[in-house]
Amino acid sequence: MSIRNDIERVLINEQQLHDRVITLGERIAQDYGGRPLLLVGVLKGAVPFLADLARAIDAPVEMDFMAVSSYGNSTHSQGYVRILKDLDDIVIDRDVLLVEDIIDTGLTLSYVLDLLRQRAPASLRVCALLDKQKVHAKHLHPDYTGFPVEDEFVVGYGLDYAQRYRNLPFIGVLKPEIYR
Ligand code: IMP
Ligand code: MG
Repeated sequence: MSIRNDIERVLINEQQLHDRVITLGERIAQDYGGRPLLLVGVLKGAVPFLADLARAIDAPVEMDFMAVSSYGNSTHSQGYVRILKDLDDIVIDRDVLLVEDIIDTGLTLSYVLDLLRQRAPASLRVCALLDKQKVHAKHLHPDYTGFPVEDEFVVGYGLDYAQRYRNLPFIGVLKPEIYR
């Protein structure tokens, strides 16, 4: 049973993802001037992106992960954020780059940013693979963005629908009948 049959159209293909991640990694390495960097991934959606991005950054990189929940299994934000797993590492005085799969309402991001800011990192920036570019309630703009996307539900390369499709190597839009 191929999961590709559930896709109506491909938005961003593997080559485009690869090329963009390489560019982001080079820019990040340059911006931090070779300083050690802590990549903080928001589970689980950021995993494929973070894994590829880390390999595109030619500088000392550590990784840590946090799990939050804002969506449940629906395609609409439920308007609250819950911490399911906190970081293992201490963030104080470190250069932290928060890696997110997608910014939709910006609720998840602003919550996690507030939390990390309280822990006094040396610097705190955001790298989001996709940005739905809504007028975010809190005027959030990622320091690094992979691609702007329209306001439609997308899956693949970490992004799920009911926990599935994270393993698609591209970003696509599901056939409408899948939601029913
Ligand atoms: P926000 O808090 O509304 O910005 O939502 C962020 C989180 O919602 C992301 O980390 C995703 O897990 C999920 N999400 C938002 N939009 C999509 C989408 O189009 N496809 C899959 N997951 C999404
Ligand atoms: Mg999700």
